[in-house]
Amino acid sequence: MEPTFVYPGKLSKSERYAALLDDYKYYIEGETDLISTMANTSAVLREAFGFFWVGFYLVHDKEWLHLGPFQGSAACTRIRLGRGVCGTCWAKGETIVVPDVDAFPGHIACSSASRSEIVLPVHDKSGAVIAVLDIDSDSLGAFDEEDSQGLQAIVAAMETVID
Ligand code: SME
Repeated sequence: MEPTFVYPGKLSKSERYAALLDDYKYYIEGETDLISTMANTSAVLREAFGFFWVGFYLVHDKEWLHLGPFQGSAACTRIRLGRGVCGTCWAKGETIVVPDVDAFPGHIACSSASRSEIVLPVHDKSGAVIAVLDIDSDSLGAFDEEDSQGLQAIVAAMETVID
């Protein structure tokens, strides 16, 4: 049977990420298209965790990220290198956890309901950043080291299959 990505409420966060990773690997096998994989990745993350907003910004040229596949409300379409949490993640090439978006200088508010955020870089086979995965919560401090580890494992699995 195909996985549903809906897990029992009693699972801890790390157990939920582990269950998702197993199902996710099964699900993405055999699909190399970047946009298709990002679209399904957004969907399964939202389904498994109920995130407020989850999606990708793709590196468009040397200066701009463009909005890619996502789940949630309509969002800003373009983010400049080094701007906001996404542009900073791209510039630094590292995961950024923001417990309170109001305390992050230059945070770009696509929705006033967003209170905390995590952004991870996505790499191609050469190691270059080709996109960022952005996840927003409507609660303060929603993301921690467990999310960082769990999401990095999902992104690593995605990086192995995309062209
Ligand atoms: N808050 C992000 C912008 C993207 S939206 O959250 C979907 C940022 O500061 O880069």
